[in-house]
Amino acid sequence: MTEIRTIGVIGLGAMGGGIAQLAVEAGYDTIGREVSGELAEAAAGRIGHFLTRKVEKGQLEQADRDVAVARLTTTTELDALAGCDLVIEAIVEELEPKRVLFAELDGICRADAILATNTSALSVTEIAAATARPERVVGMHFFNPAPLMPLVEVVQAELTSPETVESAAAVGARLGKEVVRCHDTPGFVVNRILIPLLNDCLRVLDEARVTPEALDSAMKNGAGWPMGPCTLVDLVGIDVHVHASEALHAQLGEPRMAPPERLVEMQREGKLGRKSGQGFYSY
Ligand code: 3HC
Repeated sequence: MTEIRTIGVIGLGAMGGGIAQLAVEAGYDTIGREVSGELAEAAAGRIGHFLTRKVEKGQLEQADRDVAVARLTTTTELDALAGCDLVIEAIVEELEPKRVLFAELDGICRADAILATNTSALSVTEIAAATARPERVVGMHFFNPAPLMPLVEVVQAELTSPETVESAAAVGARLGKEVVRCHDTPGFVVNRILIPLLNDCLRVLDEARVTPEALDSAMKNGAGWPMGPCTLVDLVGIDVHVHASEALHAQLGEPRMAPPERLVEMQREGKLGRKSGQGFYSY
């Protein structure tokens, strides 16, 4: 198994920022890459904030928080990831940008480095095919919010070596996650079930003529969900959910996998959920 000491995280949005937070807390030297210095600084600020909250709540020692924060460096240059043992990609949920990025990383990173994608529903095999090292490309799919959700799916693509799977699984375990190993099927395990289920929920809004508040209350109080579907989609991001739905629909063709029209409309209007200040709810 490859020994992982330094982790690169590309894209420090909700998912990448959460993954970088987990990495520094677990003791990995971590290099976070964003497209601008401002975005990188904002992400580092959010990580510092969440770790400070853990100190305030007695879940983390101040000294450990400070050491963890110091393990994070940020950059806008991909070349800065040359020394990483593992790079986890968490950029926009579209195949072409991911393939371009993986081809670039393939030229920058050491031949024995592992390249992981946090894709929600795209084919890891197709992303890996953009590199000359598909045996060292793997899916590491975290759930939002990554620091709080206990699962990581470790996805074995067509050519991923068993050793790469085990290295990624060992990192997942050290990040404190429950690891589920799975194959590269559309949506893997959770999203194959959750994405169409959430789409069903959102179609019920119109069919049963209920408000988002009523639907959320129904699923929380009638099905035991920790948060209602509208709150959850706002958290995940309308754009992320639409992209994941489109990817599943393209691969499996079931009509219920296609994004509900109401969501596509919200995306067009820039109502992307919590991150844009407006989704089903205002933030
Ligand atoms: N990063 C780090 N820390 C965070 C955080 C984040 N993004 N968000 C919250 N926290 C911290 C905060 O410090 C907060 O404490 P504070 O308010 O005192 O500062 C602390 O976590 C606890 O937050 P909450 O009080 O909100 O915690 P809850 O007990 O309410 O649980 C939850 C929150 C775990 C998110 C729970 O509501 C839940 O399980 N919801 C379901 C989430 C889910 O299903 N996610 C999966 C989405 S699908 C997906 O991600 C797949 C993708 O591919 C689309």
